Amino acid sequence: MANYIFPKGFVWGTATSAYQVEGAWNEDGKGESIWDNFTHKSGKIQNHETGDVACDHYHRYKEDIKIMRKLGVKSYRFSISWPRIFPNGVGKPNNKGLKFYRSLVNELLAANIQPVVTLYHWDLPQKLQEKGGWLNGKTVDAFVSYATFIFKELGNKISLWITINEPAVVAYEGYAFGKKAPGIKDMKIALQVAHNLLLSHGKAIQIYRKLGFKGKIGIALSNHEVFANSNSNEDQLAAQKQHELKNSWFLDPLFRGSYPRMLFNFFKERGKTPVIKSGDMDIIRSPIDFLGINYYFRTVYKSDDRAEKMCRNELCIEQVKVKGSEYTDMGWEKYPHGIHNMLLMLKRYYRDIPVYITENGAAFEDFLTKDKKVHDIKRINYLKEHFKEAWEAIRDGVNLKGYLVWSQMDNFEWEWGYSKRFGLIHVNFETLERTWKDSAYFYKDVIKNNGLIDKKKKPIKKKF
Ligand code: BGC
Repeated sequence: MANYIFPKGFVWGTATSAYQVEGAWNEDGKGESIWDNFTHKSGKIQNHETGDVACDHYHRYKEDIKIMRKLGVKSYRFSISWPRIFPNGVGKPNNKGLKFYRSLVNELLAANIQPVVTLYHWDLPQKLQEKGGWLNGKTVDAFVSYATFIFKELGNKISLWITINEPAVVAYEGYAFGKKAPGIKDMKIALQVAHNLLLSHGKAIQIYRKLGFKGKIGIALSNHEVFANSNSNEDQLAAQKQHELKNSWFLDPLFRGSYPRMLFNFFKERGKTPVIKSGDMDIIRSPIDFLGINYYFRTVYKSDDRAEKMCRNELCIEQVKVKGSEYTDMGWEKYPHGIHNMLLMLKRYYRDIPVYITENGAAFEDFLTKDKKVHDIKRINYLKEHFKEAWEAIRDGVNLKGYLVWSQMDNFEWEWGYSKRFGLIHVNFETLERTWKDSAYFYKDVIKNNGLIDKKKKPIKKKF
């Protein structure tokens, strides 16, 4: 192996989100979120598990920060639970909730770890859902008020902000496919939700600028490469549809102020396009300081040749498994080269702005041995191969500033409950004990060396 040393000041870190780790779902005045409601009532979560306790990070954050410090991370990405701050979504703030995030931020700063704050990682206050959730334009206003409040309270201490995590997942999985909260299945609604999420993002950016803080602000998108299963026109079109749905539907508005034409027309012919008010697209394309990319896999698509009414989904496309590829426990194809391609694609077709990998990691079945070890070699290899590709993207001129591994610790993996483990740190969900996996020791070395070093070779000092 060659040596892959990253540019000086490269930000290595880890990431989590509130609902997935905090627990304390109804403590200290917190309001109900759509995920509390969904896990308690929908019957759609594996083993009927909930995030009621999760990793109990709400009470154990000091212990977790001690672990982060030993890992040597330079930054830690977490999200703020909106209903912990505004139990009803709007109105009077809950001081105890705010106190928790203040302490978390202070503790991180004292440990020399830069907090990266996500404002929305899927846990909408249930009270807002009862009025239509993200379909209702008033939720956009509520988000802006919530964001303004948080900026004013924590703005001096935070240098990196993420407005919304993966609007594509919120819109499609939550409102078109019904797999995630709030469990709705309607593409027309989903597309309006996507628009409202983008609008909320743009408005939050504008407020942040107005308030004059010095930090940087961006958004985290779930981009991935989409391939066609063959050269046939039908399969090429299928891949194009999926690419526009998952990638361009968000990138184009953010960087170009318009929706991707082919898919927009496709939905228009079927009466599904969102209502776009005058001025919306300008708000959405408000300049961001950086783009966050959550990269996990690539997908391969072919066309579904049945008549439109008979197709499995509205786009008449089908995902294909690739023979010979390695798949993670999530059923996601391991495709490290995709991170490289994705970063180059963004630079070429959109803008050459700073980028952070705001999530990357893998779920594999882990075994805790009797002597409390987890030999998660597959995760180590997954990370190593993705780090190399990220390094190559930097070599090719991409302005990649940092890399946050998903996740700091095993946590509540949405509809899969606790069955999928993404952590560097193993969590025993009965005792809540934390144990270092081999991948955590591996990552510690990566951070210490600012890259991958083949111990037998002298590190190449490459100037970027
Ligand atoms: C989400 C995380 C999730 C991870 C793995 C990302 O889409 O932001 O919340 O746990 O993927 O599924």
